[in-house]
Order: sequence, then C-alpha cells, then structure tokens
Amino acid sequence: MNDISGQVARAAAALRRAKRVLVLTGAGVSKESGIPTYRDALTGLWSNYSFEQLASPEGFRQDPAMVWDWYAERRQQLRAVQPNAGHIALARLGQLLPAVQVVTQNVDDLHERAGSTGVLHLHGSITQTQCFFHCRGNPTLVEESQYADGPPVSPPPCPYCGRWLRPAVVWFGEMLPHGVYEQAHQAAVDCDVCLVAGTSGMVFPAAQLPLTAKMTRAFVININPEDEEDPLSDVHLRGPFGQLMPALLDALERHP
Ligand code: OAD
Repeated sequence: MNDISGQVARAAAALRRAKRVLVLTGAGVSKESGIPTYRDALTGLWSNYSFEQLASPEGFRQDPAMVWDWYAERRQQLRAVQPNAGHIALARLGQLLPAVQVVTQNVDDLHERAGSTGVLHLHGSITQTQCFFHCRGNPTLVEESQYADGPPVSPPPCPYCGRWLRPAVVWFGEMLPHGVYEQAHQAAVDCDVCLVAGTSGMVFPAAQLPLTAKMTRAFVININPEDEEDPLSDVHLRGPFGQLMPALLDALERHP
C-alpha cells in the first residue's frame, strides 16, 4: 500500500496498539500557522543577521538591544498567529491515547494553545524571559508584568539584579533546560510509537530521540513533505502536518 491513505492507515494501526507514544516536533509543524521554519529563515526572517548575532550569548553581549528587539518582534508575531489543524489534532491525540509525550524543538507556544499538556520544550520558550546573568543560580523565569511598567528599555532590567533580561531560549553553545532532555530521553526509551513531525533532524541531541526510540524497537512515523528517502521511519507520510495530522487522527477515531 503505497498510497497516502494506506500509509495513514498503517500509522493509525500502530498508534492504536501503542501504550506509550513520543511525539517529536520541529519548526515545520508551525509553518502552516505562518511561522517560518529555520531553513526558510535562512532566506527570510534571519537573512539580514547571522546565527551568531541572534542566537549566541556572544551576539547578545555585543548588541543586547538589537537581539532583544528581534525576539520581542517575533513574540509579537507569535501572538498574532493561531495553532493550525495539525496542532489541534495532536492535542486531541493526547486525549485519545493513554500516554502521549510531546517534545518540541519549537520556542513557540502553539502546542499549548491548541490544548496539548505537559509539553517538553527542548530549546526553551520565546514567551518566557530570564536573567542573562543567572543572578539567582538556575535560570529564573521572569513574568512580563514584572518589567512591563515604565518606559520600554531594550533589554529591560532584571527585577532581581537590575542587569539584562533575555529570552528564555537555548542559544548556540548553551545547555538545554535542566532535566528536560533527560525526561525526553526516557520517553524515547519507553515509547512503542515515535511520531516525528516537521523537523529536519539536523540538530542534536533532539535528533537522537527518534534514533533511541528505533533502537528500543519503537515504530517510527514521520510527517514531513520532504521527498528524501527516510531510512529510519516505518511510515513516512509525505505532506504538510496541518493536513496529515488531522487525517491520522481521523483514521484513528473512525476505527478506534
Ligand atoms: P528546520 O527548519 O531545520 O526543518 C524544518 C522541517 O520542516 C524541514 O524538514 C521541512 O521539510 C519540514 N516542513 C516544512 N513545512 C512543513 C509542513 N507544512 N509540515 C511538516 N513539515 C514541514 O527546523 P527544525 O528541525 O525544527 O534550534 O530545526 C531544529 C533546530 O534548529 C531548531 O529548534 C533551532 C535550529 O537551530 C535552536 O534554536 C537551538
């Protein structure tokens, strides 16, 4: 069965049997909400800047106002977009099946806004802010209301030490948020189905999770429009997440 509905049916059958499911998502799942992927971004959003400028502690030190403003603009753009049909279908999958752990590389909050709970954010969250200097030891998240009063300053002062705030996202050369990868790794070891969606699989350690799941004999489903051969997946659903995730849910609900 090489047609897409046959592939969807195979994926749905695996999900139906699953006791534990790990879902790993990347930028592609938010594309249909209007957020460019990182690959798109090389020619779009990021095109006037280098990764080093916008996504490293050194870049922030050199020009904190420019970096803060760039993320503030992205945060504003995020507020204006909505979860797509794929985010919503995935949240529904979480209600339908006994144990679905969503792990995302995305810094947006579209999974949560669609209704997914317990989402692990491997690369942090653009909606959160922390002290650049870790003035209280571990990164302390700072509510926007704590710095929103008064005239806008870029970056706003940390309410605890008065020095720079920064977005709570992971930059190059930085550690992942404490304990988050460990939980994701455990979910990869424990799952019997691993659903990977919208990621190029080029950034580690996130890209290790489906490999770990496969090594522990999980059935791997990949949702990605890319044509390239995908030797890891048992089923590769070639197409957009916003169409194929609802189709997968539909197949599952029609024959529970
Ligand atoms: P990429 O931009 O590397 O890859 C996006 C993937 O989404 C590609 O494989 C596309 O084929 C696929 N895609 C495009 N449109 C899609 C759609 N409608 N439905 C499903 N898939 C679609 O993004 P990530 O793999 O998420 O890290 O990138 C991983 C990490 O690289 C990011 O989290 C970021 C970046 O450096 C940090 O910022 C630390």
